[in-house]
Order: sequence, then structure tokens, then C-alpha cells
Amino acid sequence: MKMLKNIFEKNRKWADKIKETNPDFFAKLSKQQNPEYLWIGCSDSRVPPNDIVGMLPGKMFVHRNIANLVIHTDLNCLSVIQYAVYVLRVKHIIVCGHYGCGGIKAAIDNREHGLIDNWLRNIKDVYRFYQAKIDALKTEKEKFNLLCELNVIEQVSNICHTTIVQKAWKTGQKLAVHGLIYGIEDGILKDLDVCITNIDAIPQTHRMK
Ligand code: CO
Repeated sequence: MKMLKNIFEKNRKWADKIKETNPDFFAKLSKQQNPEYLWIGCSDSRVPPNDIVGMLPGKMFVHRNIANLVIHTDLNCLSVIQYAVYVLRVKHIIVCGHYGCGGIKAAIDNREHGLIDNWLRNIKDVYRFYQAKIDALKTEKEKFNLLCELNVIEQVSNICHTTIVQKAWKTGQKLAVHGLIYGIEDGILKDLDVCITNIDAIPQTHRMK
């Protein structure tokens, strides 16, 4: 018996459906990609990037990891950003977190989860930066939700602090970095009203001359 039968069947149906309305779709797309967006999101299976914004293949360059983190020493994520900005020349970088993120929850519950605790430590740092604001909230759910939001905002800053983004701005490249959050309970994306488009929005400590 062939394994993953279900996967192959669904793939055929999906490709046929696209070809029904646009017979040349894959042939054209195979020649080049020209996405306008870089999406940095959580690996959570409930937050599939192209699906939730209704975009076909070719429209978004995507990087995902647990809790949508952008860490200064993560060569994987930084390479994705560099390629997206300098080669694909995307116009927008979107960090998309989500409410109910298991990574965020694991970072605040103080239990041991093994190797992943080293990754989640980065979220603990976000919690520490905003601890007074978070702890002032009444319910656990409110605290959890706020940390999910603040984590996105911190990752937006981390992106803007990279040499990659700052150099792009310096050379006049148009590039906006956005923070969004997705509700797994209702399927709705919310704008966190952070949109950074130039170096003036960066604190002096992180601004390269
Ligand atoms: Co998550």
C-alpha cells in the first residue's frame, strides 16, 4: 500500500482545480517567482499563510518557526530575510503571530519541555521586557493574548534592527515591516498597528550610521 495516498490525491485535485481556471498557471510560475511579501509566521498547523490570506503560490515568500521568532543569530531566518529583500525585492515583511500560540504558552508556564526551552527563552525575554504591563492584567487569557501580541511587535523590531533591513533603507529601497496577529478562534487577521518603513522609527541604540 502506498503511504501518504491521501496527500497525493489531494495534491492532484488541487493542481487540477487551479489548471481548470488557468491552464498556464504552473508553466508561467515555473519560470520565475515575484512575490511582494515575505511572511514570517508560526509553524502551527492552524495558521497556513497562503490559505488565510487567499493567495496562490508565487505571491508570498514564507518562513515559519515556533512562535514566529526573529533571532539575531538565527542564520536560517536571516538568510530568508536577506534573500527576500535583496534578490526578490519584496516590498513588505509581515510578522504574523496568533492568539493561542502553544510556543508562547510553553514559554510562560515554567515547565520543562526539553531542547525547545532554549528557543522559548527568547519569548521569556519579551515577557521580562513587558512584565509590569502583562502582570497588571486580570485574567490569564488576557495576559497570554497580550504576550502573543507583544511578541509580534518585538520581532518586528528585531527585523528592523538587522543590517539587512537597515542597509536596504539606506540605499532607498522601499520596504515596510508589519506586525499582524491571527485569531485561530475566528480566522480573522488583526493589524497590530506597527508598520515601520524607515530608519527614523528605530531607537538610536540600534541605528547604524
Ligand atoms: Co504558534
